[in-house]
Amino acid sequence: MEFITYEAEGQIGIITINRPKALNALNSTVLEELDKALDAVDLQTVRCLILTGAGEKSFVAGADIGEMSTLTKAEGEAFGKKGNDVFRKLETFPIPVIAAVNGFALGGGCEISMSCDIRICSENAVFGQPEVGLGITPGFGGTQRLARIVGTGKAKEMIYGARNIKAEEAYRIGLVNNVYPLEELMPAAKKLAATIARNAPIAVRNCKRAINEGLQVDMDQAVVIEEKLFGNCFETYDQKEGMAAFLEKRKVEAFLNK
Ligand code: CAA
Repeated sequence: MEFITYEAEGQIGIITINRPKALNALNSTVLEELDKALDAVDLQTVRCLILTGAGEKSFVAGADIGEMSTLTKAEGEAFGKKGNDVFRKLETFPIPVIAAVNGFALGGGCEISMSCDIRICSENAVFGQPEVGLGITPGFGGTQRLARIVGTGKAKEMIYGARNIKAEEAYRIGLVNNVYPLEELMPAAKKLAATIARNAPIAVRNCKRAINEGLQVDMDQAVVIEEKLFGNCFETYDQKEGMAAFLEKRKVEAFLNK
């Protein structure tokens, strides 16, 4: 692939968006390659993904403005769908995805980070949805996910005003879980991923689905989603091993994803 690298370190997969000449901006090729990279993740082995950007300045500086500049209405809508489809795939990816935001996360960059389960960032990170300054709306989920994460008032202030925020403010409003010096960001992301990967994988996947799917429906339906996913864990090897280890006062030998 030209713009995406993928490496697996044991149970942790790392996807890096690598298009340095445009601060890792998302053009159609990047989106297509990201889609393929997700398809290629070995879900038997990998239990948590990290998404980051190459370099020390930018996570993703948005959708590619050059590519968008000549689009017609219909092409604009299709480009929005292209981004939304990939980001939705990321959001519903069976295993947790951590965004390690290492610099600018603007427009599509902020939006892709919000499609991940958890965001952590470096001290130089900048988040924002600058689209209205370019004459467009956020188009890869920003009008939907930002309000869900930070609340409607704050999201509208950021989006209507095209106001970028620094890492500290992103932390304060709950857009990121933690802020680290740049050199500590990837070690922290890997540590968090390893913590997740140590737990029973079927249970972790079911938690992701229960939280994500439950948030889309009312509480009566949400608890039914939970009940089904809770029940689905029983009779698995990992449920038996996890509970046996507790009852026998020993450590879990291994969760085997079955
Ligand atoms: N698209 C295309 N190219 C981009 C880009 C983008 N989103 N962001 C940066 N680049 C390119 C620049 O054009 C520049 O290329 P050249 O060297 O060939 O001129 C290169 O990356 C380096 O950028 P700068 O020289 O601008 O770097 P800087 O440090 O001065 O500024 C920045 C960094 C503040 C991030 C600035 O590049 C910037 O404002 N970028 C655009 C951010 C933006 O508006 N993103 C939203 C895009 S719209 C969107 O994402 C829509 C959607 O929801 C789907």
